[in-house]
Amino acid sequence: EKTLRELADENDVTIGAGVPARSFRQYPDDPTLAQTLKREFNAITTANALKMGPLRPERKVYDFDDADAIVNFGVENDMTVRGHTLLWHKQTPEWFLAWDYTDDQLEAFVRDHIHTVAGRYHDKVDVWDVVNEAVADDGSMRETMWYEAMGEAYLDKAFEWANDVAPNADLYYNDYEIASDNDKADAVYDLLQRLLDRGVPIDGVGIQMHSLPSYQHSREGPEAVGANIRRFKDLGLDVQVTEMDVAYGPDEEFDDRLEHQAQYYRDVLEACLDNGCDTLITWGVHDAGTWLQNRYDVTSDPLLFDENFNPKPAYDAIRDLLESR
Ligand code: G3I
Repeated sequence: EKTLRELADENDVTIGAGVPARSFRQYPDDPTLAQTLKREFNAITTANALKMGPLRPERKVYDFDDADAIVNFGVENDMTVRGHTLLWHKQTPEWFLAWDYTDDQLEAFVRDHIHTVAGRYHDKVDVWDVVNEAVADDGSMRETMWYEAMGEAYLDKAFEWANDVAPNADLYYNDYEIASDNDKADAVYDLLQRLLDRGVPIDGVGIQMHSLPSYQHSREGPEAVGANIRRFKDLGLDVQVTEMDVAYGPDEEFDDRLEHQAQYYRDVLEACLDNGCDTLITWGVHDAGTWLQNRYDVTSDPLLFDENFNPKPAYDAIRDLLESR
């Protein structure tokens, strides 16, 4: 029987996983993670290691160890490498939050950050999430430190700075709850349209697809997801599903929950493939490594493999879909 990766390769589809540095560092103590990754996936994303917080323990000190480990693993195993993320308002370093900068200083700092990080990996990272989550839930521009200092032009600049040093990488805008017809998705659509009108070097949009009960628009039906992918495609952008996981509320512990989860993964992958999107990344490999562990409000088994790396119904569902195409 063919693996998920073999079927993905045959179909020119990219199936990947976000990998947290901590679990990855246990390799080779825990070779199962590495084996599963290279056997089943043809793409890998740095889930935390390239964020500013983990990467920059001090103002002038970068710690690339974790990021290098994940990126190099991807390169060595012939996987598409996604870098996440150059600019986000969360997971910034403590010293950064305490720094009393001027607008000009912040702009120079961000330019330097992007040049340093995207430049280092210019021949290794294939796809960058350049800017993450710039739009607030109500559809207004999120008032981040980047926005306060530079206005909306911070996005133009971030993409241009990434393009300066990584001209061959695909440059993405990435956000959550934008897979359906809602105010935020509309606002992101308008933002991307403005970026394109201004000639910003953006290649694609990443739809995170965390399917959680607390997110209002997180479990849209396949028609809505497909239609939304299509309208982004019609802007002239590539579309990828970048951080998928499927969790349920404590009151949703119904018997066939894992079957329901499997069906949803399959539906989303099908909506993606039918509408010109060729990539689905899950936000982790196995349930023990999900960011949703130890939370009271959601089930903690949102991924394709269980805590012992056994494939789940969700794995079979997307495998079967690829086999049938
Ligand atoms: O590594 C430190 C550890 O040294 C420390 O002892 C511990 C104490 O809290 O924290 C550890 O860092 C945590 C880190 O995950 C690694 O596990 C941070 O506290 C925690 O905040 C961080 O959470 C991450 C979250 O982004 C931050 O908002 C999740 O792992 C990560 O999966 C999640 O990913 C985001 C995407 O980047 C963007 N889209 C949404 C997605 C889910 O929130």
